[in-house]
Amino acid sequence: MFETSYRLPQSCVMVVFGASGDLAARKIAPALYNLKAENRLPADLHIVGFARSDFSTDSFREHLREGLKRHSRVPAEEYPDAWARLQEKTIYCRGSYDDLSGVAGLRAELTALQGAEPGRQNRLFYFAVPPDVVPGLIDHLREAELLQRRLPDEEKQKGFHRVVLEKPFGHDIASACALNATLRKGLEESQIYRMDHYLGKETVQNIMVLRFANPIFEPVWNNRYVKNVHITVAESDGVGSRAKYFDSAGALRDVMQNHVLQLLALFAMEPPAGMDAAAVRAEKSKLLGALSPLSPEQLRCAVIRGQYGAGQAGDEKAVAYRDERGVASDSITETFVAIRAYINNWRWSGVPFYLTTGKRLARTLTEAAVEFKDVPHDLFAALEGKRPDANMLKVQVQPEEGIALRITTKVPGLQMKLSTADMELPYSSRFASQSPEAYERLLLDALAGDPSLFASRDEIELAWRYLTPILKFWSEQAPPAFPNYAAGSWGPIEGKDFFREDVCYADLEPLQSGGEPA
Ligand code: BG6
Repeated sequence: MFETSYRLPQSCVMVVFGASGDLAARKIAPALYNLKAENRLPADLHIVGFARSDFSTDSFREHLREGLKRHSRVPAEEYPDAWARLQEKTIYCRGSYDDLSGVAGLRAELTALQGAEPGRQNRLFYFAVPPDVVPGLIDHLREAELLQRRLPDEEKQKGFHRVVLEKPFGHDIASACALNATLRKGLEESQIYRMDHYLGKETVQNIMVLRFANPIFEPVWNNRYVKNVHITVAESDGVGSRAKYFDSAGALRDVMQNHVLQLLALFAMEPPAGMDAAAVRAEKSKLLGALSPLSPEQLRCAVIRGQYGAGQAGDEKAVAYRDERGVASDSITETFVAIRAYINNWRWSGVPFYLTTGKRLARTLTEAAVEFKDVPHDLFAALEGKRPDANMLKVQVQPEEGIALRITTKVPGLQMKLSTADMELPYSSRFASQSPEAYERLLLDALAGDPSLFASRDEIELAWRYLTPILKFWSEQAPPAFPNYAAGSWGPIEGKDFFREDVCYADLEPLQSGGEPA
């Protein structure tokens, strides 16, 4: 997870399914280009784009190049050689996902690149396709013997066959278990890389370093000192061009099930015995398994869903979610969800974790913040004025990356007056180098065979086990009075007391349909 270059294969073919789509151009091509520019890719890496669309190899390369121009961390013009070397080993193969004959062309390409004899063939199959296509396509690849079950020991002689899967991993506990069972029929768990790009973000990886490489934090990381924890993934953008997918998913499935719960797991898990994937995943799974199941009362009181109405997005007017192109005009899909969660274990018993995500919120902000309890005896209670805020430690993931610690301090002067001050460590000014994009880290890890930053089967299923009762509860309720927050606000909890344990959201004043408080 920290230095992968020495385990990279010399040669490999990476097949990208769904290559004509947005993800290949927006994320995969820029990641490959940046890695190539830094000389980090296997010397002999071939890219085969596979999709149904009518591209030629030339137009496919152009499609990727366009993505690069718009989305690359390092400008596309900066390393023309890197791109030239990458694209000369990039080809396009058109085919359908639906039957075995669809992958015949791919078989021919792979044979041309790697030979027909089963020698050392390293293959990375990247699935950037709709979830319903995945199981069938994996079957066809297996029938065509392009993808074979391989134990880690066999990889040494025969090379690796790995699959990288994009979310969603199912849409509830039953479908997630069914998908995992299908995958495991033909593949070892060690061959499956489930992508959660948040795990590749620099600051997310830093959560473990912060917690386990600094002895000052661990002693206070528990219910004796921590009052509550807020984990927030807020976005100012709306659904954009992904309305069709999002309308069938919603914020709970799209972000809470994966990014938010993964952040929670890293933030709250026990120290793993080592940094290897098995040790880290075991601790994350234990934590997710310890999430306190939501009682009927909590489902009513401690889970909030919302959908944005018209409002502001920065200086521009934003349309209501139901008026977005591709969204049903009576959609009851949630674009916001907040959960007051608890963890049933020795360390966290009684500490509320406020998990929040939403679209079209006041600003884009991803962070995990720990609020500490007050001192046991307040020496300064008699001083006039407002009490300073509690100590708080924030790990900021985006838009700025960094760490901030809020402490109480004396205001300089002859009077004894207290105030708070933030000790901040913004990465951008402290570290000269630019953080790599999450996809760079994760692609490299998949090529190197390091699954630490990918979600395991258990983590996926435990996350769904926790969230599925919410989906069930919602499905049994009358349709919610959406929209219930204005675009550009902080969602339906703005100005409310959700962040108090004794408050039941259902007892709060309802909101009017325009998003304004009643
Ligand atoms: C994706 C979700 O997984 O993460 C999107 O599907 C969301 O809806 C995105 O916008 C957020 O990622 P990032 O890296 O922009 O915070």
